[in-house]
Amino acid sequence: MKRLRVAIDGPAGAGKSTVAKRVAQRLGILYVDTGAMYRALTLKVIRNHIDFSDRDMVTDLAERTQILLQNSPSGQLVILDGEDVTEEIRTPSVTRAVSVISAIPGVRKHMVVKQRALASRQGVVMDGRDIGTYVLPDADVKIFLTASLRTRAERRFQDMLEKGYLVTLEEIEEEIRKRDELDSKRDIAPLEQASDAVLIDSTGLSIGQVVERILGICLNYLGTDRKGAE
Ligand code: CDP
Ligand code: CDP
Repeated sequence: MKRLRVAIDGPAGAGKSTVAKRVAQRLGILYVDTGAMYRALTLKVIRNHIDFSDRDMVTDLAERTQILLQNSPSGQLVILDGEDVTEEIRTPSVTRAVSVISAIPGVRKHMVVKQRALASRQGVVMDGRDIGTYVLPDADVKIFLTASLRTRAERRFQDMLEKGYLVTLEEIEEEIRKRDELDSKRDIAPLEQASDAVLIDSTGLSIGQVVERILGICLNYLGTDRKGAE
């Protein structure tokens, strides 16, 4: 099969990682969670008590950090300097700080090099905020996945309750709103829909319905591409 490159972008809680994982599995290609990379670095910044506004220090730390995404039977593991931090990067303290850290130009530059290298070697489904617009502008399939703010907050709220966190729906909605705003307004590679991306609003759609729509777009692309080559 052609080395298909699928970019899935959108705001927090739209369902990107959940559907990207399944689409990658069905296509038999690698899933790359770019948000996990920014989260892992943010965890290290917090642990090292580095001032978030010290952009040079944070960039320097990024350059001295190894972040690996490893597939395992239980899902994708995030390895930070040899340590499994898969769970810890989802804590509220990391979530609150990640958009500030990811807006630092030196951090993005460093991460994007790694992300492009991954996609140059194999077919990928990559999810994030700037994949279709900046990381892989020539991706074969680009999806912009969204849902209403309330729906996204309700989904995240449910996830947090299941993990045992004591939070309110209003707090989650406010955190998501703030993060979306920071992600959309930053100077470098902000969150925005690529002009050639297919918009999918998942409000009221099941995970399965979203997965099937994206797979349909991928298979359509592969079919057209194959015909073009004949
Ligand atoms: O899963 P959730 O939507 O909460 O976020 P994520 O995908 O884990 O991404 C966490 C944060 O990383 C985002 O809010 C962005 O600030 C940043 N990010 C980014 O700037 N660019 C990407 N390609 C992916 C994530
Ligand atoms: O990666 P992103 O922040 O866009 O979303 P996620 O981490 O995949 O979280 C979305 C949550 O909503 C998960 O708990 C999914 O099970 C759920 N969900 C979904 O992803 N898609 C739907 N159409 C319905 C629910």
